[in-house]
Formats: sequence, C-alpha cells, structure tokens
Amino acid sequence: MLKNKTTEPQPIYRKDYKPSAYLIHTTELHFQLEENETIVSSKIDFYQNPKWQGTTPPNQLFLNGIDLELITISLDGATPDYEITPEGLLLHNTPAHFILQIKTRIHPETNTSLNGLYRSSGNFCTQCEAHGFRQITYYLDRPDVLSVFTTHIEADHKPYPILLSNGNPVTQSNGRATWHDPTPKPCYLFALVAGDFAVLEDTWTTPTGKQVALKIYVEAHNINKTQFAMEALKRAFKWDEVRFGLAYDLDIYMIVAVDDFNMGAMENKGLNIFNSACVLADSKTATDADFINIEAIIGHEYFHNWTGNRITCRDWFQLSLKEGLTVFRDQEFTADLHARSIKRIEDVNALRTLQFAEDAGPMAHPVRPEHYIEMNNFYTLTVYEKGAEVIRMIHTFLGETGFQKGMLLYFERFDGQAVTIDDFVSAMSDANNFDFTQFKHWYSQSGTPEINISTHYDPDHKTYTATITQKFAHFLPLTFALFDPSGTELQNGVLTLKDQTQSFVFDNLPSEPTPSWLRGFSAPVKLTQALSFEQKIFLVKHETDSFSRWDNAQNLWLSLIMDADSIDTPAFFDALEFMLTNTQDKSLICALLTLPSERSLHNHQATIDVFAIHHKREQVIQAIIQRFNPLLLEIYHTLNTTQPYDITPESVGRRALKNICLFYLAKGGELTLAHKQFNSATCMSDKLAAFKALIDTDNTYRTQTLADFYQEFKDDTQVMDKYFATQALSQVCTLDKITTLMQHELFCFNTPNRLRSVVNSFTHNSINFHHPAGYQFLTNIILKLNTLNPQIGARLVATYNHWRRFTPELQALQKQQLETILATKDLSKDIFEIVQAALKEG
Ligand code: TRP
Ligand code: ZN
Repeated sequence: MLKNKTTEPQPIYRKDYKPSAYLIHTTELHFQLEENETIVSSKIDFYQNPKWQGTTPPNQLFLNGIDLELITISLDGATPDYEITPEGLLLHNTPAHFILQIKTRIHPETNTSLNGLYRSSGNFCTQCEAHGFRQITYYLDRPDVLSVFTTHIEADHKPYPILLSNGNPVTQSNGRATWHDPTPKPCYLFALVAGDFAVLEDTWTTPTGKQVALKIYVEAHNINKTQFAMEALKRAFKWDEVRFGLAYDLDIYMIVAVDDFNMGAMENKGLNIFNSACVLADSKTATDADFINIEAIIGHEYFHNWTGNRITCRDWFQLSLKEGLTVFRDQEFTADLHARSIKRIEDVNALRTLQFAEDAGPMAHPVRPEHYIEMNNFYTLTVYEKGAEVIRMIHTFLGETGFQKGMLLYFERFDGQAVTIDDFVSAMSDANNFDFTQFKHWYSQSGTPEINISTHYDPDHKTYTATITQKFAHFLPLTFALFDPSGTELQNGVLTLKDQTQSFVFDNLPSEPTPSWLRGFSAPVKLTQALSFEQKIFLVKHETDSFSRWDNAQNLWLSLIMDADSIDTPAFFDALEFMLTNTQDKSLICALLTLPSERSLHNHQATIDVFAIHHKREQVIQAIIQRFNPLLLEIYHTLNTTQPYDITPESVGRRALKNICLFYLAKGGELTLAHKQFNSATCMSDKLAAFKALIDTDNTYRTQTLADFYQEFKDDTQVMDKYFATQALSQVCTLDKITTLMQHELFCFNTPNRLRSVVNSFTHNSINFHHPAGYQFLTNIILKLNTLNPQIGARLVATYNHWRRFTPELQALQKQQLETILATKDLSKDIFEIVQAALKEG
C-alpha cells in the first residue's frame, strides 16, 4: 500500500541553501520548571541579514517550533500579525529590526523522544542538536544563526538544587540562576540542566595562566565512578594545547551525565551532556575498552569546542565539517595516549565492517549529503568515520606540519563563523599551496572506491612495475613498502593516485619483492591484488606496519572460513604459531587471533546466509582449538597473574591476549577455567570475558553464574547493560528468552541504553534473530518507538536495510516487515526516510 505522495515528508536539498532573512543579536530565555509543565519565555533581538539574497527586503519571518503551546507573543510590545503551522510560526510584516517576546508551554515530563527539554531520572536536561531547540520554543533553528544567550532558570530548590546552562554563572540563589554565554552560538549548542547532582571538581590552568573550573555532575550514587573521566578531561585539555595549540576559552567547563540519552554525548558550549555510559567508570565495572572509549568521547566533545563550536556548520549538510574533523582529532588523541597501531586496526575494522556496508546499502550517501528528510538520520558512520578518513588523507598528503599550518589558517579565517566543508578545504589548500580540487570528490561521491593493483618484475632490468587501476579517478595517497625475501624493507613511501590507470616503476631490485600496499589503510578503499598465499603469510610475519600484518591475517581467516580448501591451513597455522611465540605486542597477537565477525563476513557474501556463515565460523574456531589448545592454555596461565589494575598498553594487551585464549579454551570445553576466572576476577575486563564464556552455552555453570553476576552488580546501571547484552547475544538466547528479559524489573523501554542492550544486541544474534517471529518482534518494537522515540526507532529499522542481500525466504520476510511499517499511520519522518529508501526500486 503506497502512501499519498502529497502527505509524504519531503526532503530538504543542499542546493537550496539560502542565508537567513533575519539574524539575531541576543537571545534571552527564561525557564520556569514545574512538575506538570514548563513555561519558556524568550526575548529575541532580530535584525535583517545584510547578506539576504532576496530582491526585496524580507517582510516575513518563519520560526521553527514543534509541539509548543503558544501563550503570548509580542513584537516591539504589540501583538504581531502571525499564523501557527504544524512546523512553526509565521510572522507577517516584520520590520528591519525588532524585539520579539514569546511565552510557550511545553511538557518535558512526558517527553520520551529525548530531544528538546526532557527528564531523566527526575532531572531536567536538554538535547538540541540537530533540531531539538524547536521543541523548546519558537526560534530560527538553524546553525548559521548565532547569538549571545542569557538564560534564567527558576525551579523548586529542593528537588532541583543545581541549575545549569551555557557560559558563565551570573547569579545563583535558591531556586534561581542566571547564566550568560559571551560566545555567539547557534541554538543547537544550547543546554539546560536542573536537578539534584553530586559534583566532582578540579581546575585546569591554560598556557596563558587562565584558571578553568572543571565540574562533572552525576547522580550522587555515581560520584565514585567519575575520577577517570576527570583525568581524561585534563588529558584532553593538555593534548589539544600541545598537539593543536588550542586552549579553552570560558572560565568553567561542565559535564553532566544522564541515563536517558539517544547518542553518546553532546558538545553544548561549556555544558556537555553525556550518556552516563560514556562518563562513569571504575575498574570493577568498566572494561579496558570502556575506559579507552570514555576517554575518547570526553576528548571528542572537548575538541568540538574549537572544531564545531567556535567554528560551526553553515547548514547540516556540512555536518562532517565538525564531526569528521573531530573524530580524526579524537582518534589521534587515543593513538598518542595508547597503542597507535591497535587503535588503527580497531578503527579500520569498524569502518570496513559497518561504514562499507552502509555505503553499499540503500542509505548510502556522500560524506557531505545532498538531501535529507530527517537530519537525525545523517549522524552516520559515513559522516563521522569516513569523514575522519578523508581528513586523515589530507593529513597524509600534507604531513603533520602542513596540516597544522592549514588548521591555523582555518581558525584565523573562520573563528566565530558558520562555514562549509569547502571553506575548510580552501584553508588547507591555501596554507600549503596544495591543489585539493580533485580530492573534493571524496565529499560528494557515495560508495567505496575499488582499486586494483597488478605487478610485474623484470629480472633483466631489475625493475618492478605496479599498474594501478580504478573505475573513477579518485585522488588518494597509497602508502606502501617493498620487502626482500629475508623480510628487509627495501623501499617505502606514499604514491599519489589520481588517474584511472597509473604505473609506478621501482628499480634496483635484485629479485622480485613482496609488496605491501595500503599500509595503515591510507585511504578508505577496497583493494584487490593478486598476492599469493605465501606472500600473505610472509607479510603477517615480516611487515612492520601492524595494520598490514593484521589485514593479511584477516584475509587468510576470511579464506579459511569461506572456503576451507582454498588455503594451506597447516601452513597458516604454523605461521600463527610463530606469531604466538615470537611477537611482543600482545594486543596485536590478540588481533591476529581474532576471526572476522559474522557481520563482516556477510559483507563478503553475494547472498547472505546467516546460518551457513555462523557454522563455518564455528568450524574454524574448532580447528583453532584442535591445533592450539595446549599452547593457548600455556599462554593463558603465563598471563593469568594478578597485578594492580592500570590501562597501560602492556596491561591492556596482557588481558586482551589472556581473554582471547580463554574464549577459545571455553569454546573447547574448558568451562571450569572460565568459572575460576569468573570467581577470582578483580577487574571487569576479566570478569566479563569469563561471564560471556559461561553464558554463551547451556552448561552446568550458567544459571548460577547469571545469579551471581546479578547479585553482585544489580545496582550498577552500566554493568546491568552488559548483563542484558551478554544474554541477548548468547548462542542459546532464543526469542522467548528475550521476551522474558523484557519483563525483567530492570528493563526499561524508554532508556535507549537498556533497550539497545536487549533489542539491538538480539538483532546481531544472527542465528536466533533471523526467523519470522524474530522479525515480527522487532517490527512491533519499531512501531512502538515510532511514537515514543523515533530517532531510536530509525536506528533499529535500519536492521532491514540489507534485505535484498539475504536468502530468498528471509528476503521476502524482511520486505514484508518494511511494507508493514511503511503502511503505518502517522509514521515519523525518521522511520519513513529509512524505510522508503530501503524499499525503493533498484
Ligand atoms: N554532536 C554529537 C557528537 O558527535 C552528536 C549527538 C549527540 C547528537 N546527541 C545527539 C546528534 C542527538 C543528533 C541527535 O558529539
Ligand atoms: Zn561530534
């Protein structure tokens, strides 16, 4: 059943961008927070935009506003000529300059969308990016309208002793507070928090001697889990000063943790709001990966202060201007502080598994999208992670010094403005006299480029020729090395690709070298080349670039899983044994021993057969156990010593290797060992690894382990998310177990973290999810989210995006789900956009 075209949500196009007819000098807001309503009063100082492109002066102004109840409105003290639409408020006969005063009523207490002003654990908080501010009051809700905000908050002192907003505190008294933010900002960076919090305080002194008060606000019972976040925040301040020469500008930097949050965190000026899972950590409850992830997100939001807040986006099509750049910055932050090589492997693995799939699916879009129906659907792996890869290529071309010269010019030119990706690239280009014209295709083309390399050795001239072809002439850096048979690096460097066919000749090579192309994954492409099995083994052993070693190992695992007869398994296992006993970097050994995930294997199947993939992968796991059981046990025991907890690369690597050994050993039946570790573990990395092993199958320890884990951690929200997720992902978790989990007293549908821990996890439990009843279950949840939280609903409905690639039966079933969803009355823009793209022909 098709919907009436005229009532369908319509896309907004990048090409239609026009500067706003009006701009704003100052925005004064007054919030009166009550239990059953909130009254928002605004006083906004509008003036005609000198850059207005219309032929006649504008005499009307449209303000965005959704689900607002207008109480009063006055323009320069008189009632204006206006009309209210479902999307906002249209003012007629507006003068060149005027003061608008508006009073509206909103209902944060029933707001489950977690956008705009809402409540989490009884406290008030906001989320305004991308379009949440229009759920607070009528406003020019677009990122290129910047103004100076003053915010007054009024609330009952007893339940809401802490009242926060952006900028610096002006006055604070019982039940009232005024905040003033001197830096002009768009409304998506506005934030307000009111509630009862405990606070961890510290200070930071910038290079110019300015004192910054640092504050982390959390619910009182979480205060002992904030120390790591504070240390991470100071590391972020320090790193941005040292590596980018950037210091903080306000007198206070606040982070507030809330349990109900759609994404990871938000960079609101001076007042970051975080998903509490991205702040709270101690070694008893957080894994090594959690710690490093929290530090990265704290860094990310802090780095936004320059790349996002001081220089912001002209329009939302430019989102990658701030996100791609800031992800690049947080990746470098983590790489500088921890193990650079492992960080790169993890990032590339995620990019290839998730972003490549997105780029090959119905929602594929360029890093700078051309259109959107619901902007929230474009906070994607493409905009963030591929966007960061594009920045990384610019960095590779220019080197650190050239890149920093470009950044300096970018800040010099555009500080305080809302700009475009073209503006950023022009700064990089002008500062270095480097032509990025052709390179800019990376921002406008979707899809993953494919590159083919063929080689030829000429023994007479001792030359080695590489011929590189690509369908479209992408401009990219190709990092490489050539090795002699002993493993010595003969040549290395960066080739610049820019044509559809290019040949590179390397001379003075006494024998045919083994090439390593795309070291460090210097460009986000799919590379095909004719490396022999022996050459791959050689590179796993001898490459010095860790990424390339891992990449070649992944390639061999892939062959072994997909077609066991295609490679010489004993020879591959011999090489692995050599690695296991001769490599120092334990995190790297762990990465080499980790099989490609089922999801990444699906990307390599013409037709996805989830059951076949699962079973083939399990067979390889059994082959590993057969061959390596004694060695894994020996390594396990060598590494299983108790040491004080820290997250140095050495300790992280030690635990990673130990726990992957445990994974295989448990798969081979060594559950007693897992149980022993479960009982003696002193940190969450060890505890969770054992918990996962014991929960994955029906075994004699399972019931008691679940009970013990629950008993120990039931009061810890973050650990309980792991408790739910581990069960939802276990091989024995069938749909009925999921429905039981959703009856659990700690299950909460409206808390995204908890919903994700059960439902999202289950959609990745391929062999148990991919059944008619599994799909029916998911569809019901999506339809419930359609009214409660469409943003989260849209993320979940993307599960069906690749329906065309599944085996015929599952394909038909998934299509049916999409059609059912599309036929639903009052479908949100969020879900509509994804579903109609998924069903679109061709
Ligand atoms: N700007 C945020 C970040 O990347 C992303 C974000 C947080 C967000 N919450 C959101 C985006 C809600 C859209 C909606 O750091
Ligand atoms: Zn961001």
